[in-house]
Amino acid sequence: MLKAKIAVLVSGGGTNLQALIDAQNSGIIHSGEIVLVISNHADAYALTRAEKAGIESLYISKKELKTQEAFESAIMTALEERGIDLIVLAGFMSILSERFTARYDHRIINIHPSLIPSFCGQGFYGLHVHEAALAKGVKVTGATVHFVNEIPDGGEIIAQKAVEVQDGDTPEVLQRRVMEQAEWIILPQAVERIAEQISNAN
Ligand code: GAR
Repeated sequence: MLKAKIAVLVSGGGTNLQALIDAQNSGIIHSGEIVLVISNHADAYALTRAEKAGIESLYISKKELKTQEAFESAIMTALEERGIDLIVLAGFMSILSERFTARYDHRIINIHPSLIPSFCGQGFYGLHVHEAALAKGVKVTGATVHFVNEIPDGGEIIAQKAVEVQDGDTPEVLQRRVMEQAEWIILPQAVERIAEQISNAN
């Protein structure tokens, strides 16, 4: 059975990418292989994580390419050249157009740091999500893995895990708990599930 070829798109620290690399090393992910990491930020620590793990990495700059269309075309070319089957958005802070998402229907998944449909959509990313959750005073939050379509955070839900909010939480403390107790667990599990389906069909 052919393993699914996985590309991970990142923008920052890359702790979710690290969780995927660790899951691959421990065998939790065994139906797919991460063969490419793409960052839209040159200084993303995620690029160093990829390098340390011996995974090919690319920096693709929207600034240099000027338009969203050119930026997305450069990403698509890189994906096509390597025969990528599954695209994982792991802290990728750029919204993809319908032209891109339609090209990879049910082949792009994203990790979002809340229980969708709460605290999601345009403007809800990274720490802002946890700031909004604390401002609202919710007692439970969590993370969601979902397919990506043309609606930001609007695609079919694959997995969710709840995490308790505690008295005195700051956005940073809550973010870390959601990562540890939800994101780093459900993202690798979901990637294995989808990769298995793809590799069975390959
Ligand atoms: C993660 O919490 C991820 O869920 C979130 O950004 C963080 C990236 O951290 N993604 C979004 O908000 C997407 N809308 P990481 O670079 O350490 O994985």
